[in-house]
Amino acid sequence: MHKIMVLNAKGGCGKTTIATTLACYFAGQGYNTALMDFDPQQSSNRWLTIRPADQPPIKAIDGARQRAGVTRSWQLYSGTETEVVVIDTPAGVTGGKLVDLFHRADTILIPIMPSIIDLQAMEYFLQELRRLFKQGHQGKRIGVIANRVRLKTRSYHAIQALMEQMDLPLLTTLRDTQNYSLAMESGRGICEMRSGGTAKDRKHWEPVLEWLHQEIPYKQEHLALEPGESGGWAGERLVKAVSH
Ligand SMILES: Nc1ncnc2c1ncn2[C@@H]1O[C@H](COP(=O)(O)OP(=O)(O)OP(=O)(O)O)[C@@H](O)[C@H]1O
Ligand SMILES: [Mg+2]
Repeated sequence: MHKIMVLNAKGGCGKTTIATTLACYFAGQGYNTALMDFDPQQSSNRWLTIRPADQPPIKAIDGARQRAGVTRSWQLYSGTETEVVVIDTPAGVTGGKLVDLFHRADTILIPIMPSIIDLQAMEYFLQELRRLFKQGHQGKRIGVIANRVRLKTRSYHAIQALMEQMDLPLLTTLRDTQNYSLAMESGRGICEMRSGGTAKDRKHWEPVLEWLHQEIPYKQEHLALEPGESGGWAGERLVKAVSH
């Protein structure tokens, strides 16, 4: 089982958007997928309640509320069949809470939005994370996603510089588009909105997925599409199930 955590102390930077997008991707690729929500607002789990029944299933796990008569570890148990757990986290996580969450993840993805205040706050957060990483990362990887950023802008270069300074990989840049809010409102991910309108966005996700698949083996064989064909996650690729 591989646990991917979307983490940033900053609110509104895209944690839930990224967590739900990833959960859709892995469920759609045939992985037994769970979405664990540590945010008391339960945005990810609420999104799951409106997910259409004909979409690949994603198991909901409430990590925020302690259920009476149930141990914490049982509450967070996702089942032996689960292959990928995507973990959404609340804003404002620092100190002991950050330590607790850090140790629950195999891979950490950090969404960053570009305002200067964000970047200053980010620097503190990343330093805290780096201290934990140095103390014992046990094979964990941390990657960064620049969210709602335009390439070649000052904001983009500022994020790039901060990531170089922090020695963290900047995996991709997601554009500002209402596709994400449309997906959130319909219980889907952008990979499940097959229109040409999301092709660009699915393309932006490719480096993140390839990076994640360095640790999570592909279930399906990727074949190039014939020119003119469309569909699939990348819009330019066809996935064909293979037996293992
Ligand atoms: N790339 C994007 N383009 C357009 N809108 C986006 C994008 N990413 C996120 N949003 C929107 O920004 C808002 C905040 O995003 P989201 O809820 O994912 O952030 P969050 O980090 O989970 O927030 P919180 O800290 O409150 O949990 C949402 O309305 C979401 O639809
Ligand atoms: Mg959220």
